[in-house]
Amino acid sequence: MGTVGAFVRGQTPPSPLSVLDKSNNKRYHRLTLCGQSEGAATDEEKEKSQSDRRLEALRGGRSVEQLFEGRAMDLKFGDIQETALVTLAIRASETARPNPRIVDEKAAEIISALGVDVSKYDPFLSHEGVVARTIMFADTLRGLIAQHPDALCVNLGCGFDDKFSQVDNGKIEWYDVDLPDQIIVRRKVFEDRPRCTMLDGNAFEGAWTVTLPHDRSANIIVMEGVLEYFTKEQTATCLHMLCDCFEHGYLVAEMNSMFMVKHSKQHDAIKNTNATFKWGTDSGAEFVELEPRLTLLSEHSYNEEMRKHTLRGRLFAATLGKNVNNRIAVFSW
Ligand SMILES: C[S@@+](CC[C@H](N)C(=O)[O-])C[C@H]1O[C@@H](n2cnc3c(N)ncnc32)[C@H](O)[C@@H]1O
Repeated sequence: MGTVGAFVRGQTPPSPLSVLDKSNNKRYHRLTLCGQSEGAATDEEKEKSQSDRRLEALRGGRSVEQLFEGRAMDLKFGDIQETALVTLAIRASETARPNPRIVDEKAAEIISALGVDVSKYDPFLSHEGVVARTIMFADTLRGLIAQHPDALCVNLGCGFDDKFSQVDNGKIEWYDVDLPDQIIVRRKVFEDRPRCTMLDGNAFEGAWTVTLPHDRSANIIVMEGVLEYFTKEQTATCLHMLCDCFEHGYLVAEMNSMFMVKHSKQHDAIKNTNATFKWGTDSGAEFVELEPRLTLLSEHSYNEEMRKHTLRGRLFAATLGKNVNNRIAVFSW
């Protein structure tokens, strides 16, 4: 378990830029983005950077205490759940850039309010990978939703992801599903919205699916950044559960590469967590072997998006084959 930070209702920050956590008598500074250390942020409070000002604007001028009014903020995560902070930190730091390629205002708001240094979760290659996959997942989902405008969408292993805001067409019914302790933390920073509901659920058993509507023209299940932490057997259990519980559906899944599994300990962001990648594939066909009800509709390496953005992304894509990087695949059943 990793304790990430603590804000307790009723504390009055002496400055909106820092908060005293009485449980350990430690003062947390507002987030330091892009590799700055916590100490460096204190000096930079005097000369606010462009990122600082943007984050403050995103917070709408509210203090940390106001932001979490009525909600004790004591975040404790299991090893896999801690990885939700990696994507959150990256989406927040990209949002704070002058010309962001993705904008996730909720991520920026949460990271700003957490006030912990998450720069270790935001190294270059992981940053580019998460930006690429965020773009690719949103584009793929928008395409499926265009075909099925009233679809039921399930973000399984949602973490702190706010994909609904990116793809909502005003008609879809969306469920953000995660393990109960992650949903408890998510409820501290998100509220249910019309057609967007948080739900406790486990990818290995389908009891939670019975409460979902069954009158939609399509069921779209999204699993981004989740399956790489499952063993082959757990992946099979999850795929069987989806095919058993949804009569028809699409699965939009992040496919972990075997290379990532072999080099889990060297991964630039995951090495800073207690999680490890468990299983990977060279092709989505390996999912079909595990669950023959699935049909593989498409599969694309994140290299295809990463190479569009930076020279290092181009070099990475050119020198390392598509199976070195993770992929997005769409299955139907
Ligand atoms: C790396 S985070 C990804 C979060 C989010 N999908 C994103 O891309 O930002 C992995 C998430 O999977 C969730 N998770 C892990 N095991 C799970 C399970 N058996 N059932 C449902 N969710 C699970 C974790 O709680 C965590 O929120």
